[in-house]
Amino acid sequence: MTTVLALETSCDESAAAIVRRREGGMEVLAHRIASQVEEHAQWGGVVPEIASRRHVEALPHLVEQVLKEARTGVDQLDAVASTVAPGLVGALMVGSVMARTLAALHQRPFLAIHHLEGHLASVQLAQDPPEPPYLVLLVSGGHTELIRVGESGEMQRLGRSHDDAAGEAFDKVARLLGLSYPGGPAIQAAAAQGDASRFALPKGRVKRPEGGFYPYDFSFSGLKTAMLRQVEALKLQSEQLPLADLAASFEQVVADVLVERSLRCCREHQLSTLVMVGGVAANRRLRGLMEQRGAEAGVAVRCAPLAYCTDNAAMVGAAALQRLARGVQPSALSLGVSARWPLDQASALQSNPPPF
Ligand code: KG4
Ligand code: ZN
Repeated sequence: MTTVLALETSCDESAAAIVRRREGGMEVLAHRIASQVEEHAQWGGVVPEIASRRHVEALPHLVEQVLKEARTGVDQLDAVASTVAPGLVGALMVGSVMARTLAALHQRPFLAIHHLEGHLASVQLAQDPPEPPYLVLLVSGGHTELIRVGESGEMQRLGRSHDDAAGEAFDKVARLLGLSYPGGPAIQAAAAQGDASRFALPKGRVKRPEGGFYPYDFSFSGLKTAMLRQVEALKLQSEQLPLADLAASFEQVVADVLVERSLRCCREHQLSTLVMVGGVAANRRLRGLMEQRGAEAGVAVRCAPLAYCTDNAAMVGAAALQRLARGVQPSALSLGVSARWPLDQASALQSNPPPF
């Protein structure tokens, strides 16, 4: 059995987890998240300096709690991991310095994890984890991507958003509708009793310079503008916006687009499993629609467990366990952190010089 301590501090959630690999899969022995969402909400977005300070305050307690809950000590672990890119540099630094300090003190290997590598690994925490090859729809606040994961774990990006990420669209439209941050859960709640067919909204196709459209790419900026126009027109008619119908129509078109392009990509690349990860993968309408249309198309749909869709440290632990299983060398203790870092360069998060 292999057990790791993992930390995640790339944005506004401080998180720690202990994850173990045992026969047949991975098991989360303990995981904790201290969210700063409410504190940032009053500023209308994440304030990097506040995020770093709150991580400094929260992280030592979270680590203490997960070690206690898992009845273990750092000495008994096989590695200490943390997210080092991409994200807010000051925030990443807090988790990374803590992980490297614990690793050095206890002479454990340190593993530097890419945040998206974590999201991708989150599906391995499901009851019956899927085996590659499969197509991953990664939908979060910062990314909307279709990634093919091959038999030996190699990744190839087949689709992406050309402007906003799906989660970003949820957050911006929620603000437009006067709903709270983060927008995804707020829109989901408002949409529950709504009529999803009331407003016709655009599906945002991306034109190829040589003609036609990119079949697996996304664009959400036109949808955002269409929502704005719709809201403006409705406000001329009445003070009271039909919030439920607006939220449901928006949620439906986003789900439709994600499902149609993902399943088309599966079909055209002969992939029979579709994996959904990231914060937006927590969306009930999207999960339901993907499962229904997937079943009709003969594609098995596997989602990350709900608790591990939005940012958490268990997914970072899962990515660390995958690295250990592949025999990847530990990362250098002198490794830095980086605000931007491409996922296909994740294997470079190992050595000197630091990836600033
Ligand atoms: O993966 P995540 O926690 O952080 C990033 O790496 O970005 O994703 C956060 C995003 C936010 O935009 C949030 O509005 C969205 O995920 N989200 C949802 C839901 N829960 C979170 N979007 C739609 N429906 C949800 N239930
Ligand atoms: Zn994330």
